[in-house]
Amino acid sequence: MCGIVAYIGPKDAYPILINGLYRLEYRGYDSAGIALLHDKKLSVYKTKGKVSELEEHLQGKNISGNIGIAHTRWATHGEPNDINAHPHSSESEDLAIIHNGIIENYLTLKEELMSRGHKFRSFTDTEVLINLIEDIQNNEKVDLPEAVRIALNQVIGAYAIVVISKHDPDILIAARKGSPLVIGLGKDDFYIASDATPIVEFTKNVVYLDDQELAIIRRNKDLKIKTIKNKDKTPYIQKLEMSLNALEKGGFEHFMLKEIYEQPRSIHDSFRGRLNASKGDVRVGGIIDYETKLINAKRIIIVACGTSWHAGLVGEYLIEDLARIPVEVEYASEFRYRNPVIYEDDVVIAISQSGETADTLAAIELARSKGATILGICNVVGSSIARATDAGTYTHAGPEIGVASTKAFTAQVTVLTLIALRLAKIKGTISTSRFFQIIHELEMIPDLIEKTLKVDPVVKEIAGKYKDVRNFLYLGRGYNFPVALEGALKLKEISYIHAEGYPAAEMKHGPIALIDEEMPVVFIAPNKGMYEKVISNIQEVKARKGKVIAVVTEGDTSVKKLADYCIEIPETEELLVPLVATIPLQLLSYHIAVMRNCNVDQPRNLAKSVTVE
Ligand code: M6R
Repeated sequence: MCGIVAYIGPKDAYPILINGLYRLEYRGYDSAGIALLHDKKLSVYKTKGKVSELEEHLQGKNISGNIGIAHTRWATHGEPNDINAHPHSSESEDLAIIHNGIIENYLTLKEELMSRGHKFRSFTDTEVLINLIEDIQNNEKVDLPEAVRIALNQVIGAYAIVVISKHDPDILIAARKGSPLVIGLGKDDFYIASDATPIVEFTKNVVYLDDQELAIIRRNKDLKIKTIKNKDKTPYIQKLEMSLNALEKGGFEHFMLKEIYEQPRSIHDSFRGRLNASKGDVRVGGIIDYETKLINAKRIIIVACGTSWHAGLVGEYLIEDLARIPVEVEYASEFRYRNPVIYEDDVVIAISQSGETADTLAAIELARSKGATILGICNVVGSSIARATDAGTYTHAGPEIGVASTKAFTAQVTVLTLIALRLAKIKGTISTSRFFQIIHELEMIPDLIEKTLKVDPVVKEIAGKYKDVRNFLYLGRGYNFPVALEGALKLKEISYIHAEGYPAAEMKHGPIALIDEEMPVVFIAPNKGMYEKVISNIQEVKARKGKVIAVVTEGDTSVKKLADYCIEIPETEELLVPLVATIPLQLLSYHIAVMRNCNVDQPRNLAKSVTVE
């Protein structure tokens, strides 16, 4: 969702800010803006639309200054337009602010300010905050950091903010609660951003602000951090592991395609150092101290959203199958509000690529208030969820820029497979020979995915046939039911074609009514598990003249006799099929979206990290 980038130092701020905004585009946004301070003049430029439109709008304008703030906005309060875009200036135009998050009590604060004669230009909560800061500064005669601190104590909600003042070209104030903010420490300058992507090319030394912390960033001075309750904190400097290459397309037309093709590598990175097939060893460092808790847990509750929820479903099948521990998988957005029964001996596992999903964070808070142990599986290092959990593990898939999650999903499933195997081993619910069999096969998965990617031309041809249909159905059973859900989600989010995923046997309880000669049905039908039963389901579709696209095991003959199109994937263990079978479904949605001229990496209305509920 919204993105923040800010700079203070000796360099020209504009190129740093505008490139930073381009790097943040992947988060999803609908307007962009920038404020630069030069010669006591605070210039604010903003526009609805893309960063490139902002750049055009700035042609011929004064863009000097070596301090500035910039923002991409994903509309929450007020429609996406030039006025509601950030930065927002205070009434006097002496201050400007950029803000991610939502100020929940903004209406009360606004009414109070209006009753004191303040006027507003926009409908945003953010403008309320900057006017509140200015009001405090004027009435309480305090300096800017103190005014920001006092204002934040009156705010209910979530925020990551950066404030700039016309009267002080040597200071930026940043603060966070619930929305991430990272400060890069350069040689003689500072970079502030909502995630590390705009920073990584300048410095690897970063400080992640904690909730309710305020950073006072002065030119040529050390970074000062305090809590909003005025307690000084020592900045904890960490090293970024991200590389610049990971943030570029590397010759691919889209980030999504690059990320699909990265999967042999990202899966390998997910189990590197954790899986030693020859020694028969699996361990997931981050949760070692919680293994006893896990195997004795009354149940494991997995909370997540979207694709991460689908990975959680695969996790349920894996953990119950191998380690015989009861697992429930919950949509974080439902869990947080439905007054669930949570016991102290429950272990909650939160899964999130971004580590910033608001619903997942709220589900964690609820589980914590009931005394459960909370573990996390996140991709983004240092993210809010990674920090809010008792312990956890990173997926190490590398930065995922395409809004449609691909490599993050397979990395999450890989980590869940490792956890299930480890728990099964220490609980004694798996024989040694079976354990060895599975881990050997898991080690082969990157090679099998490399092989699977060769189906791309076949998938592209199928995409060409079905790119104009209005509906798709995806069906699978057992481990492949979540794969069907994931395939359908991928298609709808980037191609805007309506698609539903179902357990194949559920078809006859309703969706079968949709089948006619227009309806493509994607079956995940490897020669494992309920293969024969899936063949019966395919026959049911063919009997009603539906079109069948089947993902089958190499060398399959039975499904081939029935299906209109087959996509062959290499044979593997039944419980590892999701890792392989997902690949052609990702490619199918990608090619259909490209053929329909959709914006693959930034689909309409979607954001990469959903930081509001
Ligand atoms: O960052 P998270 O994994 O918590 O995000 C959860 C969902 O918003 C996310 O998976 C979403 O469904 C993706 N766009 C799917 O491709």
